[in-house]
Amino acid sequence: MDFDLPGLLAAHRGDGYDLYGRYLNPQQPRVLHAIGFDKVYQRAEGAYLYDSDGGQYADFLAGFGVFAAGRNHPVIRQALHDALDAQLADWTQFDCGPLPGLLAEKLLAKAPGLERVFFCNSGTEAVESALKFARYATGRGRVVYCDHAFHGLTTGSLSVNGSADFRRGFDPLLPDTAIPLGDLDALEAELRRGDVAALIIEPIQGKGVHMPPDGFLTAAASLLHKHGALLICDEVQCGFGRSGKFFAYQHEQVVPDIVTVAKALSGGYVPVGAMLAKGWIFDKVYSSMDRLMVHSTTFKGGVLAMTAGLAALAVLDEEGLTENAARTGEALRTGLESLAQRYDVLADVRGRGLMIGLEFGRPSSLRARARWSALRTAREGLFAQMIVVALFQRHRILTQVSGDHMEVIKLIPPLMIGEEEVKLFTEAFGEVLEDASKGGGLIWEFGRTLVKQAVRS
Ligand SMILES: Cc1ncc(COP(=O)(O)O)c(C=O)c1O
Repeated sequence: MDFDLPGLLAAHRGDGYDLYGRYLNPQQPRVLHAIGFDKVYQRAEGAYLYDSDGGQYADFLAGFGVFAAGRNHPVIRQALHDALDAQLADWTQFDCGPLPGLLAEKLLAKAPGLERVFFCNSGTEAVESALKFARYATGRGRVVYCDHAFHGLTTGSLSVNGSADFRRGFDPLLPDTAIPLGDLDALEAELRRGDVAALIIEPIQGKGVHMPPDGFLTAAASLLHKHGALLICDEVQCGFGRSGKFFAYQHEQVVPDIVTVAKALSGGYVPVGAMLAKGWIFDKVYSSMDRLMVHSTTFKGGVLAMTAGLAALAVLDEEGLTENAARTGEALRTGLESLAQRYDVLADVRGRGLMIGLEFGRPSSLRARARWSALRTAREGLFAQMIVVALFQRHRILTQVSGDHMEVIKLIPPLMIGEEEVKLFTEAFGEVLEDASKGGGLIWEFGRTLVKQAVRS
């Protein structure tokens, strides 16, 4: 029997939006058509995507942070070809192949103080694992999380999601409790009740790119430990070199009890997640032979996922991508900060390494202010969406609004970008800001389109 993938793709080039609308989530093509993001991409390499007309797009989104090494990295691709060609005995379920152990060893070498790894298939599954392990190890049922937190959308992860929009209608969730990001007093008040298993926190929040104050993680860890609770750092997005350190919590001298990773561990090819933890936590959960499968998943430690993870780590180290994220991130932030000096509509530039948040505020010019207010009245976050649309339509740069109802754009490009991309982005963004702060030009056309769309839906 023949299965002809190239033929299938050639026969259905451009059919994706129709098929998606018919058989998957129809809101996806609807939204993409509305904002003019409905391209047909043909190929991708490094930090760029190419559409069917040969147009080149700079990717400052990296598949929500998946493509740390850039897209279609030749070393990772070759490793996966090799793994396929070796025809290994995957998922026998009753053996111990070397690849999971080797990848665990490499990951733990990046996280001194942690001793064990559980592999799974996604970020939310790594978080689910962390929540279960924390509850079991402490014998307590409640987890504290931060306002605006995002840890995934399965039911356990949703219970520690700091956004009402995601939670609404999915009750009852687990009995978890939100505190303001960085609020030690609020954490202590919860801990005093004696039923808290853990605090789960993103060292850099994906939503809005907010960070707790310096020293918070260290202080929180000692408070948590004093009360017999654990610190879980969710590094699914900010980990793997993105912040300029391998793990973002490593900007402080702290050892969390549990760390979750996913996204970039995939090498941009094979979905995979991992939970790293202290040895005693694993010893409690897997305390005897009959508890071997008490937490498990069919696809854990698959050959392709482990290969992708090992190759992604090798590339990260060999190409110095963590250091590059620190260096290039600094250059990008410096450029953006000088734009913030020039344009008051750019109210804040924040983040670490190549995880950058750009927050907009009310501009001072009368004309621009009137339009800002009109957009805000229609929907909070529309101004930022308009900037995203202008960056894409005018400059072919892919970015995203950093969460619903927020005037914040998030930049999470591949970690291998350099001076060229810094220049490309700052120049393009400068032009868009110039336009926005004058209150005229093309981006207001998009603004009007989006207002109409928002009013209609
Ligand atoms: C910090 C964080 N945790 C968990 C998740 C969930 O990961 P996944 O989408 O792979 O389930 C995400 C996804 O964006 C994330 O940013």
